[in-house]
Amino acid sequence: MSRPSRPVGVPRIDRFPLGARVRLADLAVDPYPIFAELREAEPVTWVPEIQRWFLTRRDDILAVLRDPDLFTTDAPSTIRDMFGVHMMTTEGPTQIRYKRKCLPPFHASRLTTTSLPPLVAEVERRVETMRSAARPADSGREGRWQAGEVRTGVARPVALHSVLSVLGIPLTETERVNEWYEHFARALANFAGDPDLRAAGKGAADAFGRALAPILEELEREPDGSLLSDLACDHVDPLTAEEIRSNALIILFGGIETTESMIANAVWALLSHPEQHPATRASEAALDLAIEETLRWEPAVQSAARHATRDTEIRGVRIAEGEVVHCMLGAANRDPAHFEHPDRFDATRRNAGDHLSFAVGRHFCLGAPLARLETRVVLETLWAHCPGLRLDPDRTAAPHGYEFRKPETVWVEWTGMSSG
Ligand code: HEM
Repeated sequence: MSRPSRPVGVPRIDRFPLGARVRLADLAVDPYPIFAELREAEPVTWVPEIQRWFLTRRDDILAVLRDPDLFTTDAPSTIRDMFGVHMMTTEGPTQIRYKRKCLPPFHASRLTTTSLPPLVAEVERRVETMRSAARPADSGREGRWQAGEVRTGVARPVALHSVLSVLGIPLTETERVNEWYEHFARALANFAGDPDLRAAGKGAADAFGRALAPILEELEREPDGSLLSDLACDHVDPLTAEEIRSNALIILFGGIETTESMIANAVWALLSHPEQHPATRASEAALDLAIEETLRWEPAVQSAARHATRDTEIRGVRIAEGEVVHCMLGAANRDPAHFEHPDRFDATRRNAGDHLSFAVGRHFCLGAPLARLETRVVLETLWAHCPGLRLDPDRTAAPHGYEFRKPETVWVEWTGMSSG
């Protein structure tokens, strides 16, 4: 390792002037010019606003995420406080065991046989509901245009339905899950440490645990091929009730807003580039590649955080034991050292799949295959049922957010005639 590039003793605020200027509010609006500046001049930087390190070069981020001995998730964090120890907040054999136990329902073959038919039915139902609730678009425009909103009308309910189905939680629980989810989301974004928000989040996690017990008993009696059913019927080194609860919580939490955002971002990105539609629709492989490009260009999750297990250095910058390093995934995805013209959206980009939007290494996203499938089915269904689909020019909203990024709404419009 090289020596520290700047003398120790100089305040961090002076050593990292670009980092000192970073504001989460600006990142929420448009992080990419800020990432470009950091990547070029201060690729390892200290951000005083949150007292954490930021990494913006793809190589550095890969190195950190692939080194769980030195950069760990096994440390106190809000998500561990809320949900307990689960695959994302532990490392080593325990993490591998948790992930192995939860992986089978996310394998491509099982997704295709078990998850795809109900997913297609749910997406069609949601798109049809959007179409039947559609209102005529601005009458000043030519033709009979109908308008609907995709994020709340399609993306959110589809994400929720899919993750509940894969887990094996009855769909009659949807409303309660939605309520718990809102408490979790507020508690996890509780940077000011409000004790009431924390208590409400923990209360929701406990309520989830209580609701889980009878579901597991029922699934043990009548297995249905879901993840909870697998876990309830597992008699070889089975997970305890607490281990099932905490891992189910991270899957539930990890699968709702992220996927809703991924779908909303993909629809928004593709419809913002109508000139690229013919290429996207040329074949299944072309659509898959286009989805990877939407993930690269506008990832729903912008950072992966790791705690240094001992004093170390990255690019000559000293990181102290216990400090938190944020791997900025959206910055890695636009690193010109790996992606040509990185700010350009190119649905045919050959290496689009090299993005880090699902992270890499041991904590690579468990739900990535399901999220990709959901996005593909939504896009195919929208195109099939909504002729001439385009963004509503009067109601445009770009993705927004520092940690989770999505547009507030995705208003689209289509012509009056349909295949349905
Ligand atoms: C069905 C949907 C999804 C489910 C069930 C899910 C679940 C999970 C779980 C359980 C983990 C922890 C894995 C581990 O620690 O070994 C994880 C990690 C992750 N997921 Fe997902 N996820 C979903 C969708 C998404 C989407 C759409 C994105 C972003 C586009 C995303 C981004 C990530 C990232 C970046 C990580 C790694 C975090 C880290 O390393 O710190 N996930 N996901």
